[in-house]
Amino acid sequence: MDRISNPFAPGAGNPPPELAGRSHLLEEAHIALARIKSGKPAQGIILTGLRGVGKTVLLTEIGHIAQQQGYEAISLEAHEAKPLAELLVPSLRELLYQLSRIEGAKQLAARGLRVLRGFLSSITINIEGVTFGLGVEPETGTADSGDLEADLPRLFEVIGEAAKAADKPIVLLIDEIQYLQSQEFSALIMALHRINQRQLPITMIAAGLPQTLALAGNSKSYAERLFKYPMVGELQKEDAALALTLPARQEGVEFSSEAIDLILETTRRYPYFLQQWGHDTWNAAAASPIRKQDVEVATVVAISELDQSFFKVRFDRCTPSEKRYMRALADLGPGTQRSGEVAEKLKVKVTSLGPVRNGLIRKGMIYSPAHGDTAFTVPLFDEFMMRVMPQIGDNRE
Ligand SMILES: Nc1ncnc2c1ncn2[C@@H]1O[C@H](COP(=O)(O)OP(=O)(O)OP(=O)(O)O)[C@@H](O)[C@H]1O
Ligand SMILES: [Mg+2]
Repeated sequence: MDRISNPFAPGAGNPPPELAGRSHLLEEAHIALARIKSGKPAQGIILTGLRGVGKTVLLTEIGHIAQQQGYEAISLEAHEAKPLAELLVPSLRELLYQLSRIEGAKQLAARGLRVLRGFLSSITINIEGVTFGLGVEPETGTADSGDLEADLPRLFEVIGEAAKAADKPIVLLIDEIQYLQSQEFSALIMALHRINQRQLPITMIAAGLPQTLALAGNSKSYAERLFKYPMVGELQKEDAALALTLPARQEGVEFSSEAIDLILETTRRYPYFLQQWGHDTWNAAAASPIRKQDVEVATVVAISELDQSFFKVRFDRCTPSEKRYMRALADLGPGTQRSGEVAEKLKVKVTSLGPVRNGLIRKGMIYSPAHGDTAFTVPLFDEFMMRVMPQIGDNRE
């Protein structure tokens, strides 16, 4: 069918033509934001879920909801190789300059800038392009000890005071939050705890892989109290069907019910795959209604596309021993497996695999659903591993 009108656009972070099955999560976010804005207590939200379930898309949508409510939204994406301060400082600086233009908040925002400058001078990392105007001298003795868990709460407090004076609620939207170092995550939670105690208008809505839950370290009890951790998963059957049929119907195209059933079964109702299959089935079909045979043709295309992009970029980031570990895990089948059995497959002691397993968890390839258990963070990755490495012994260093 006409490719120009194909409504499906696979790709990470792409807003879907129909954001199906997430209205309850958006409603939760809406309520939490509205409560915090009006000075009432509410928990922040940390969305957790596997790769491609739609976390980034939800975070973007929540950002829009926040802006409609009058929030200033700061969007950040954590990165394995970047310290939290490097992500935060430029946005906080910009925010404070913005607040400094609001009558009633000028002085507190100016103080915020001085404290931010002091904070910056106490950290050893070099953040390019961050300059402060004339007259912004670093304030000494506040948020500049060099201990992030002590400094970040002070810094947030000063910024929160300025935001309150400006009557401007702030939401931090942090994606890929599992990539923060444990100590950074802990500092962030402590900062938000301080904000919460002082009832200042800053909150955080974040998204990350399931390993995020294990990150809190020193601040575990605050992290549990201050946040809800809704799981974002595969779509319910009806919603998955709507994700396909509504966008197609907008273009005057229908799916046969057999075609829908086969897509739902093949994709396991994971959003990323639904978009991929929607896209490729549309292109494979000659006319409406899209039939089961079109899906069968499209499946070959879709898998080859995924193998060259979605799966491959992740696979390529791993070392040979990490790949072998994942191949052994895949050999055990889909879903959660015992780490001990992976070791047995590889004929080594489970303890000797600790570093490899931890490396894969840090890279976001696998996670530990429970002690001693291991699972892929990428849906259907086990099948990909079997395709890309037919033998466990392949790919030796
Ligand atoms: N509720 C939904 N209904 C239909 N399609 C969706 C839905 N949510 C997300 N998608 C589509 O799924 C794909 C993946 O979404 P997104 O990039 O937000 O996932 P993610 O959880 O952030 O993945 P990752 O962990 O890889 O960053 C996108 O193409 C998006 O358009
Ligand atoms: Mg994402």
